[in-house]
Amino acid sequence: MTTTYAVLSEGLEKRFGAVHAVRGLDLAVAQGTVCGVLGPNGAGKTTAVRLLTTLLRPDAGSARIAGHDLVREASAVRRRIGVTGQYASVDGDLTGRQNLRLFARLHRVRGPADRAGELLDRFGLTESADRPASTYSGGMRRRLDLAASLIRRPDVLFLDEPTTGLDPASRNQIWDAVRDLKREGTTVLLTTQYLEEADQLADDIALVDRGRIAHSGSPAQLKALIGTYAEVVVAHADALAKAAGVLDQLTGVQPSFDHERNAVGAVTGDPTLTLPRLVRELDAAGVPLLDASMRPPTLDDVFLRLTDSKEPVG
Ligand SMILES: Nc1ncnc2c1ncn2[C@@H]1O[C@H](COP(=O)(O)OP(=O)(O)OP(=O)(O)O)[C@@H](O)[C@H]1O
Ligand SMILES: [Mg+2]
Repeated sequence: MTTTYAVLSEGLEKRFGAVHAVRGLDLAVAQGTVCGVLGPNGAGKTTAVRLLTTLLRPDAGSARIAGHDLVREASAVRRRIGVTGQYASVDGDLTGRQNLRLFARLHRVRGPADRAGELLDRFGLTESADRPASTYSGGMRRRLDLAASLIRRPDVLFLDEPTTGLDPASRNQIWDAVRDLKREGTTVLLTTQYLEEADQLADDIALVDRGRIAHSGSPAQLKALIGTYAEVVVAHADALAKAAGVLDQLTGVQPSFDHERNAVGAVTGDPTLTLPRLVRELDAAGVPLLDASMRPPTLDDVFLRLTDSKEPVG
């Protein structure tokens, strides 16, 4: 079976004056999958979404979205996609229901009132449907925004940081909605600064760093790229340096410290470094060991290793 790509871009670029916000974006999102575009502040995520949704014109490169050329067939692209921006786009003075009806009429959806009612129901907003959206909580606004972007049953949905600033319960509701959409066959491209979010939702992840995709692959592939994370917890702070020395020698990687927990850890790609061996070496060096563990890396580890980002992430 040949793969059909809902999003296929090549060398997309965008400059804002001296700022080269997107520096050659090559992205392939298979139909019916969820792609997580993961990157820190200023990496170019929003610019990428704006390019891929025809809101900005690329300076260079090309893309096909749902089979249509991004630039030459921009209006066909617009008919097939939904977009939820990083900041809410609904009108606070209108009620939830009025907002959705307005969107439905703007997009010439048949039976706008029914479609609005259906989406309010789906996103648990029926009870608050007739209050102004300005009285909604952050999570409710996001759900209303998401509902608005679905009004035309898009083939490809773009979500720019859909859960930033939401509490865990609201975040889970958005996650469930994304999973439902995927089940129904919608292709979803979402940007996020949360590694856990990409890990939870995405079939494939593109790590964006300074306008470029630094790495891409499934969450498991990205984790496998950097190996296993070995961590040692010592009985007292004085022993940290010695433990770090042993880790450094075993892994060849400069260890990182967690002083609050008296812990030190490093990533290793060496398959012969097993937990028993790690414990033996630490013991032989006289390190007062409280705990030692080896686990697959989190996407946080991956991000820090695979991008040359100096800024903390998240
Ligand atoms: N309209 C604009 N004019 C000038 N510079 C811009 C404009 N839009 C974005 N930029 C710059 O382009 C770079 C990428 O910005 P972008 O908003 O795409 O990043 P982002 O990954 O979405 O960041 P965040 O996580 O903060 O939302 C930044 O340096 C930003 O300042
Ligand atoms: Mg952004």
